[in-house]
Amino acid sequence: KRPAGAPDRKLARPVTKVGIVGAGLMASQLALLFVRRLQVPVVLTDLDQARVDKGVHYVHEEIDKLLAKGRLGHDKANRFKALVSGSVDKGDVFADADFVIEAVFEEMRIKKQVFADLEAVVSPECVLATNTSSLSITEMAADLEHPERVVGFHFFNPVAVMPLLEVVRGERTDDATLATAFATGKALKKTSILVQDSPSFIVNRLLGRFMGEVGRIVDEGTPLTVADGAFAGVAPMPPFFLLSLVGPAIALHNNETLHRAFPERFYVSPNLQRLVAAGKSSVYLPDFSIDPE
Ligand code: CAA
Repeated sequence: KRPAGAPDRKLARPVTKVGIVGAGLMASQLALLFVRRLQVPVVLTDLDQARVDKGVHYVHEEIDKLLAKGRLGHDKANRFKALVSGSVDKGDVFADADFVIEAVFEEMRIKKQVFADLEAVVSPECVLATNTSSLSITEMAADLEHPERVVGFHFFNPVAVMPLLEVVRGERTDDATLATAFATGKALKKTSILVQDSPSFIVNRLLGRFMGEVGRIVDEGTPLTVADGAFAGVAPMPPFFLLSLVGPAIALHNNETLHRAFPERFYVSPNLQRLVAAGKSSVYLPDFSIDPE
């Protein structure tokens, strides 16, 4: 069944090669998903060879785990590994891609530059998807020659197990792009929903309220472990564990984006800001709940 508001599926274009910009946490999980489900060549790119190698290595390791669990046979495992490659060059490797998704740092300026660079090398019909969790699709596409092929394609962590996919239509996204995005979401075995282009879309907007409130509880003096424990048994993950899984910097970015858009409704924790400014990747630090102001 076609998701509500989705265009005619006959408009979808085939996806025979996938490009992924970025080789970090989300990008390498995406590479694994695309190669498993679409079984087409997937190329990961990043700024330097070490990051690219790390991303490809992650995919190979996860394929080995699936093999060990009996989820994949040897032939498929070898075929999938051979389909994944990495490169620091976005030119040649993306020239024949039909679908490129970016999962780089959550900053509008960087994402716009990535799309501008991509536009110079990909075909005019190649879909440019973004895994942004909060930024405007319309703005990201605004300076491009073909803004109609830009679409939001937002996955959740851990990508392999979370079933939802937010497909975000920008003001100028065309029906063929949207239909290709929905067809791809279906091939990836995700439940796709069509989402308005608004700050943090649906899930992260809801999550932002929740995480903001938990952050406030801790900022007000409740120990983090108590706030975490209060949720044990009613949610699949304690809130700060989830925050660590997503990454404190991403969680903070989400809350700051929402606070800018709706200042009266969203809270930004000064403790979280300080933690991220100090470059910490875990919230499980003894001084998180102590406000030195
Ligand atoms: N990567 C890959 N697979 C993973 C995984 C990971 N990080 N974590 C768990 N899994 C797999 C396990 O391998 C297991 O698979 P098998 O059945 O094949 O063995 C399966 O998931 C279930 O795992 P477990 O039984 O160990 O654990 P669980 O019952 O505690 O479930 C969970 C794990 C599904 C991740 C669950 O804890 C959960 O749903 N947590 C909430 C996650 C969530 O809310 N994510 C959204 C974050 S927000 C976000 O991502 C938005 C953003 O843009 C910032």
